[in-house]
Amino acid sequence: MLVFPLLVFPRFPMISRLDAPQPWQTNFQDPATPIMQGIIDLHHDICFFLISIVIFVGWMLGRTIWHFNSTSNPVPSKIIHGTTIEILWTITPSLILVFIAVPSFALLYSMDEVVDPAITLKAIGHQWYWSYEYSDYNQNDESLINFDSYMIPESDLEMGQLRLLEVDNRIVLPVQTHIRLLITAADVLHSWAVPSLGIKCDAVPGRLNQVHLFLKREGVFYGQCSELCGTNHAFMPIVVEGVPLENYTNWVANKISEA
Ligand code: CUA
Repeated sequence: MLVFPLLVFPRFPMISRLDAPQPWQTNFQDPATPIMQGIIDLHHDICFFLISIVIFVGWMLGRTIWHFNSTSNPVPSKIIHGTTIEILWTITPSLILVFIAVPSFALLYSMDEVVDPAITLKAIGHQWYWSYEYSDYNQNDESLINFDSYMIPESDLEMGQLRLLEVDNRIVLPVQTHIRLLITAADVLHSWAVPSLGIKCDAVPGRLNQVHLFLKREGVFYGQCSELCGTNHAFMPIVVEGVPLENYTNWVANKISEA
């Protein structure tokens, strides 16, 4: 029966992927940037070591409990020292740490890199909403593209909108374009965080933090403020719409003519 509405309305004006958390979700959201892909890959790499170590240590503990107790082994061993095994159990963990550190540092430094950005978006955290500035198109003060982005309260939600996640003014950004994000706050600490973009950056009053963003695909990406910032901390979500460059330029042109 679920197919029925799709038959009646075979095409929606725009179908895009919904990048938001799902009920009982336990894993990552789909990555939309190379950085988030890198974070997920690193997580899987480290989990390989983690699971191997847990199994090995568990096996050793089990064997110790089984063999070395007063009933099955009444005469204890006199061995208190073993050079070979001591060298082994010192070298092996440090090698494992190196295998974890190398890809981890590679990812950390690539996250810091801002590749010659084509667009700059400034996000400003307020108690309790975000405001955004697109300052690349400034001819004068009147043509500045800036807007506030408030959460849609539960009573005003329309069918299909996500509770506590939808906003009145979404951010629009082009895909396949290098973007610079400048993040700051006007009052207290906030944090601009969108899981599927792999970004979580503190918004600090009097400071300008910079992160790099490259959308691999279109979509609507949902995020939330991630620094306790007061009573309405849970009610200042973030919505990013990733659209083709052409749609983005149209959106910018509309915004400028509005202003
Ligand atoms: Cu803003 Cu929490």
